[in-house]
Amino acid sequence: MSLSTVGDTKNAENATENAKVALTVNGRVRQLELDPRTSLLDALREHLHLTGTKKGCDHGQCGACTVLINGRRINSCLTLAVMHADDEIVTIEGLGSPDALHPMQAAFVLRDGFQCGYCTPGQICSAIGMLAEAKAGWPSHATADVAAQTTALTDAEIRERMSGNICRCAAYPNIIAAIRDVAEGGRG
Ligand code: FES
Ligand code: FES
Repeated sequence: MSLSTVGDTKNAENATENAKVALTVNGRVRQLELDPRTSLLDALREHLHLTGTKKGCDHGQCGACTVLINGRRINSCLTLAVMHADDEIVTIEGLGSPDALHPMQAAFVLRDGFQCGYCTPGQICSAIGMLAEAKAGWPSHATADVAAQTTALTDAEIRERMSGNICRCAAYPNIIAAIRDVAEGGRG
């Protein structure tokens, strides 16, 4: 067997067939043909060109890639796109528009909750998912009474519940103020 034949055989062994998947992103069905190993983050950014969702660490440590799937927050770098054919995916682009900001986006602007802005799409998606979790009565590590039906969203609660979203600019006090505004306003 020649060297080139050996190479061809190895390439054939390593080849992965693309998979067809229809993703519903921001209310629109998008047809994609992807290497099945493609993360949801890469599908959004590289294939759908929705670059609002950011890649920070690419391994679940920073929260920059947070999006909402069926209303729940998820690190899109840690999940495969092909797993989400039946889901409703919402990215920062689907939350509001420059003329009609989502209340959480408006609160971040009002409270100056960002500096470079790199973490901000993830912070906002995460905050919206977090408020839904708190409303549903999910306790956090900071919750004193885990059996309580409702938990007051103190700053300690917000900090703990948002601890998966890192801000290298350390805009944390303003991020917390923005989230508190929305929580107290009953929006989000
Ligand atoms: Fe996904 Fe950092 S890029 S958690
Ligand atoms: Fe710069 Fe958060 S605003 S990383």
